[in-house]
Amino acid sequence: MPGLVEKKTQRAEGLASILAIGRANPPNAMEQSTFPDFYFRVTNSEHMVDLKKKFQRICEKTAIRKRHFVWNEDLLIENPCLRTFMEPSLNVRQKVAVAEIPKLGAAAATKAIEEWGQPKSLITHVIFCTTSGMDLPGADYQLYKLLGLNPDIQRIMLYQQGCFAGGTVLRLAKCLAESSKGARVLVVCSETTTVLVRAPSEEHQDDLVAQALFADGASALIVGADPNVDTNERPLFTIFSTSQVILPDSDGAIGGHVGEGGLTATLHRDVPLFISKNVSKCLEQAFLPLGISD
Ligand SMILES: CC(C)(COP(=O)(O)OP(=O)(O)OC[C@H]1O[C@@H](n2cnc3c(N)ncnc32)[C@H](O)[C@@H]1OP(=O)(O)O)[C@@H](O)C(=O)NCCC(=O)NCCS
Repeated sequence: MPGLVEKKTQRAEGLASILAIGRANPPNAMEQSTFPDFYFRVTNSEHMVDLKKKFQRICEKTAIRKRHFVWNEDLLIENPCLRTFMEPSLNVRQKVAVAEIPKLGAAAATKAIEEWGQPKSLITHVIFCTTSGMDLPGADYQLYKLLGLNPDIQRIMLYQQGCFAGGTVLRLAKCLAESSKGARVLVVCSETTTVLVRAPSEEHQDDLVAQALFADGASALIVGADPNVDTNERPLFTIFSTSQVILPDSDGAIGGHVGEGGLTATLHRDVPLFISKNVSKCLEQAFLPLGISD
């Protein structure tokens, strides 16, 4: 168009790599083996003897040793709405999540930046992903303030991605890192179960799995292409390719719905079956183009 000067962004030459990794957990940790006792006591549910036994079996099967939480017993005691099954409680949950999610993310990001060893002014993009707490401006903006990032940093905020957050952010980070020479993408995933902790219910036993499985923490990566060897940037992992596929008949298998009672997660009991039936094909599609068939 006359009068407009085309601004072409030069692409990176190589593939995107993960240049650093950081993670952070809140200090409150609970052993999974003692969690059922704690959970049924604090929610005044000790009378549900059979349900507790079932919860113990589920906790054991998760093979998790310990979990960290932003919330603690004091917070649950102060907010009885978090200790019932579905009382209106969204305001309390949001308040905690909105305050804590950026802080946890910043703690993980700080570790990743330390490992990367470069000035944070070189970070050009940030992707922040969480299923815990929605707000505006989002956790990406709070992270920018906490870390003192460049004001012209390009921010992407992703809410409600659930368990495929990690895959989604890697896919996006690869695109950003390879499409612009010199791009350095700070990727942060941060979660807290404050949005879904609630009492057990005989009628809604599905929720027991969410109470047994999830925990609080954050992870962060620096992703970039063409590492600068002069400043000791080094690739830990190269992201060769990314893909996404919707598995056949998996509609409704996993869901998350936010309402006055917080986030309810639906995890259909056939989720492990859907994965096991399809994992070979997915791995073949990923590895055969690289000549790996074992
Ligand atoms: C819950 C889980 C740890 C159970 O382990 P498992 O090896 O399948 O063990 P079992 O089949 O013996 O199940 C243990 C109990 O949990 C129950 N259970 C299993 N999956 C369930 C589900 N999705 N909803 C409700 N109850 C479930 C079983 O009925 C069984 O109850 P019982 O002891 O009274 O018979 C495992 O199935 C799991 O991790 N599921 C979640 C996977 C998932 O959705 N991941 C994505 C998270 S977003």
